[in-house]
Amino acid sequence: MSVWHIRGGTRLRGSIRAQGSKNAVLPILAASILTGCESEILNCPHLSDVDAAIEILRHLGCEAAQEGDSLSIDSRGLSCCAIPRELMHRMRSSVIFLGPLLGRCGEAHVSLPGGCELGPRPVDLHLMALRALGAEVEQEGDGIVCRSRGLRGAEISFPSPSVGATENAMIAACAARGESVIYNAAREPEIGTLQEYLRSLGAEVSGAGTPVIRVRGFAPGKAVGIRVPPDRIVSATYLCCAAITGGDVEVQGAAWRDMEEVLRSLEAMGCRIRRSASGVRLVADGRLTSPGAVATQPYPGFPTDAAPLLMAASTVAEGSSVFMENIFSSRYRYAEELKKMGADIELRGSLALVNGVERLRAAETESTDLRGDAALITAALAAEGESRIQDEGHIARGYDGLESVLRSLGAELWTE
Ligand code: UD1
Repeated sequence: MSVWHIRGGTRLRGSIRAQGSKNAVLPILAASILTGCESEILNCPHLSDVDAAIEILRHLGCEAAQEGDSLSIDSRGLSCCAIPRELMHRMRSSVIFLGPLLGRCGEAHVSLPGGCELGPRPVDLHLMALRALGAEVEQEGDGIVCRSRGLRGAEISFPSPSVGATENAMIAACAARGESVIYNAAREPEIGTLQEYLRSLGAEVSGAGTPVIRVRGFAPGKAVGIRVPPDRIVSATYLCCAAITGGDVEVQGAAWRDMEEVLRSLEAMGCRIRRSASGVRLVADGRLTSPGAVATQPYPGFPTDAAPLLMAASTVAEGSSVFMENIFSSRYRYAEELKKMGADIELRGSLALVNGVERLRAAETESTDLRGDAALITAALAAEGESRIQDEGHIARGYDGLESVLRSLGAELWTE
């Protein structure tokens, strides 16, 4: 547990570099075991979730070496198809190893974390996809065993789009005989990065970014390389920090095409946004205005992970805003903590009604979840006085050097 001490009131100014995307790199790390090969992953962020994935890879018999922002994985020595419970529990998205293990070994033994701080995290869609590809799945308690005597291509129709289940299905389908078609697939940009990586492994994959993805098996045994794209949620975080402090910040390399919904909301709040080949720059002058209604949706809709950050900024915006959370059932713990800073927020089920206040005041807040804690840090940057934001290790899961980046922009903060 660490505590962030933040003295609010400084306008953030400067230029920073977008970090590599957590949600893009994690499925690549899992997919790297699909075939015995060497992968070179560039622009890999330094995150505790990446460390947890590396530990899983090493446990499975792979070699992994990190040098700066580059991570090399050699999965030729994979010798085990079971991931122990404590390693599975270190990272929520460890279920993404199920498909690649099954594809490579014909067998996978994993255990699943139950619910999480955002509410229940079912895996029924992941298992449905693997069953469709011919796997037998046994579930006992939190243990899951998948077996197959050879996966075969299939049609997989998701009742609703799931990012993780789409990724598991794409990876496992690469190891199947024949063609697979995934309907109602998630369309998040990270699916496109996984497609690029699977193609570099020799798989025929197409359709990422649309609701229908087609996969044919791969030709194993190549050395492959990929560059992790910029993290759209981390970039959104820095822009929201700039907005709430009336600042002027450029996020170099930010993928603005993947962030349009967030950028449009920030523009609606009165921020000036410059999209260019070098990234995104946000300038905020005067008081923010409410973004109006913000409803989270699967991509290309407003991302659920960016809603806490925009809500933090809207707590001091003139007028009322309405947030509707449509992806996770209990994502508003951070809103209760924002209220401790004087935010005027009324929660009604999936709705959060925010009445902008003139200013926030420093408070001591409890740790909630990754983006929730980031939202509290965002709010504290604008609050009068010194806030103390507790963080149960969430920030390190998704932010590479948040403290030093914010300090480089002029924020007054330190952690203990
Ligand atoms: C990914 C992201 C996470 C983001 C989320 C939604 C990673 C590592 N994490 O999580 O940051 O918040 O997408 O954009 O990429 N569901 C089921 N059954 C399943 C799987 C999911 O009912 O088997 C439900 C979930 O409870 C949720 C919805 O589907 O309500 C979307 O979840 P999903 O897209 O699967 O999220 P993740 O892949 O876990």
